[in-house]
Amino acid sequence: MSEPLVLGIETSCDETAVGIVRGRKLLANVIASSVAEHARFGGVVPEVASRAHLEAMQPTIERALRQSGVKLKDLDAVAVTAGPGLIGALLVGVSAANGVALALDKPLYGVNHLASHVAVDLLTHENPERPTIALLVSGGHSSILQVADLTGDIKSLGQTVDDAAGEAFDKVARLLDLGFPGGPILDNEAKSGNKLAINFPRGLSQPKDMESQPFDFSFSGLKTAVSRYLAANPNFNRADVAASFQEAVVDVLLMKSIKACVDSGIDSLVIAGGVAANSRLRQVATQRCATAKIELRTPPPSLCTDNGAMVAALGSLAIAAGKPPSTLGISATSNCPPTEPLYR
Ligand code: KG4
Ligand code: ZN
Repeated sequence: MSEPLVLGIETSCDETAVGIVRGRKLLANVIASSVAEHARFGGVVPEVASRAHLEAMQPTIERALRQSGVKLKDLDAVAVTAGPGLIGALLVGVSAANGVALALDKPLYGVNHLASHVAVDLLTHENPERPTIALLVSGGHSSILQVADLTGDIKSLGQTVDDAAGEAFDKVARLLDLGFPGGPILDNEAKSGNKLAINFPRGLSQPKDMESQPFDFSFSGLKTAVSRYLAANPNFNRADVAASFQEAVVDVLLMKSIKACVDSGIDSLVIAGGVAANSRLRQVATQRCATAKIELRTPPPSLCTDNGAMVAALGSLAIAAGKPPSTLGISATSNCPPTEPLYR
């Protein structure tokens, strides 16, 4: 199967997302989000998300088929996020994928959500097989990976010891009363602020930390520092706080990612996951990678946040690598590391 036609289904959080790819070509990317239903709670409510997936699943698959001009019967394989994520939400996607694969008598690939964030790179860049360092930053996960083969050889160099980067954005956005989900709103607020106004701490970046935990992150101290600053400065400038906080996160993410490239001798960096949509992270990454002569690969912002195309992309890579499909009837797992890209 040289250019397999793959349907990808993603339901790990609040997006019911379906993508279709042919080999490395993106044919459709459709997303139905239940975010508005969660906004008044200030976070995703799992039960609400699961029910929304159930309602949105069939229409979203139909929209993706229409967008791509593909018929269901022409599909070569089905890929689905089997973890990590909200278990009830994952089960809706996995059940739907099991059903489609069974009805069509086609192989099913259960894939890891985190690895598929990195795999989406193959739809927009050449040479996805090239060894790379990956900075994976999402709402529930932050790590630096050394990727030799996205379908089977992924090493974790370090990860957050407390909050994920996206979680830090969301929590600080809440402190600043910016609304939910906080990351993109804070990004926007920061555009009119002074990033040098407040010198917030860069977690685990002291010389002793860089020796003992060079590729680990910590964001909880930064969140506390913002909270203390707000308490001590009742007339604070919101845009300045947003910009200064964002600068601290971006600085430490890139300092450690570039060190990983230099130490491993790998001159390629993929930045993936929802936080990779951050405009300042993309800007500073472009500057620092150019200086360090590292090839930077960041998917377009619409493919950084959760989507179905990334799931189809990892399924397509698994087929190209000759990996066996998952057992039909696979279940879902709420917790699994990015180093295990495919489910059996
Ligand atoms: O990968 P993703 O869509 O879902 C998870 O797998 O978690 O990531 C969502 C996270 C949220 O925390 C969201 O606030 C953050 O990514 N995010 C951003 C931006 N867009 C999304 N954070 C900072 N700046 C952005 N522009
Ligand atoms: Zn994600």
